[in-house]
Amino acid sequence: MLIRNFIFWLSTKRRVTNSIARRGMKYGFARRFVAGETLEEAITASQELCAQGRRVSLNHLGENVSTETAAREVCGGYIRMLEEMHAKNLKGNISIKLTQLGLDISKDFCRSLAREIAARASALGLTIEMDMEGSAYTDATLDIYESVQRECGNAGLAIQAYLYRSEKDILRLAPLKPKIRLVKGAYREPKNIAVQSKKDVDAAYKRLTTLLLEGAAQGAYFPAIASHDPFMVGHAQAEAARLKLPPDRYEFQMIYGIRRDLQNEVFAAGNGLQVYVPFGTDWCPYFMRRLSERPANCWFVLRSLIAESGAAPKHATNQPAA
Ligand code: FDA
Repeated sequence: MLIRNFIFWLSTKRRVTNSIARRGMKYGFARRFVAGETLEEAITASQELCAQGRRVSLNHLGENVSTETAAREVCGGYIRMLEEMHAKNLKGNISIKLTQLGLDISKDFCRSLAREIAARASALGLTIEMDMEGSAYTDATLDIYESVQRECGNAGLAIQAYLYRSEKDILRLAPLKPKIRLVKGAYREPKNIAVQSKKDVDAAYKRLTTLLLEGAAQGAYFPAIASHDPFMVGHAQAEAARLKLPPDRYEFQMIYGIRRDLQNEVFAAGNGLQVYVPFGTDWCPYFMRRLSERPANCWFVLRSLIAESGAAPKHATNQPAA
């Protein structure tokens, strides 16, 4: 836990992340979790995944922008991503973060950009998903999600199992027939609003998985089970079987480069699998969060650096982390 917290803390320090960023792409270790720095690289990685039958969700890395100009630029970038996906006939969607679209500046401004993206996606026959960020943004995110989904009907939303409020939020969204991406939750949240221990997070995750799959059986949700935890995946598979839910009524989601063994297993069992494909120059805080989730990944970074100096096999960066 100490190591996790230390790496998580480091991920918030710009001097540290800049220094890692200078080396990460050069030495290749970042490529394990980040598809590249440009849209072209992300499209190439996505084409490979789609050729294997996966769907993709492209995510342009970056968080909290502080000017309207920067938010508009991000919005334009998301629209280019949609157009490129459409032109290349890629199966999947894009994932957006509302703090990248000016949520800190104004909720209405952010809503108008999110709506613009969803409308363009809809015109191209595509969908979008909204990431869920820290708890300071939960209310605003739900509010914007509801209005965009009501208007465009092609948006999904991430819901964090560790928040006590999530069951109510899921029930509140049911009339919109939403795609819900159920995640455990990636932020440090206080104990009055989120469960803390892995045991309790896992229990909440399983309970909400059942709620969503039962809802899917009645046509209320399209659940996306977004976890690399084999127990969560196993629970979802068992519940889907109990409910006789066909595989086109729900899906699994995992992150690019993480538990590729489990990704193969889930896909080979006949399930739909969508891979979250992050890219962009601002990849370092994201990369550090992935390290903090599993400190064993630090070993993999070290091996990549040693390999580069000629002391270990060249392909050390391609070893699965788990
Ligand atoms: P858990 O953390 O318990 O890990 C289970 C197992 O998975 C580990 O034992 C290990 O084998 C493997 N694993 C997990 N992380 C790994 C890593 N970094 N490297 C190697 N192996 C790893 N969160 C959020 O707050 N808002 C959001 O919008 C999203 N969006 C999102 C999309 C998708 C597609 C996924 C899969 C996840 C998210 N998340 C998220 C992140 C999520 O909240 C959570 O932090 C991570 O998925 C880790 O939790 P797991 O469910 O994988 O289980």
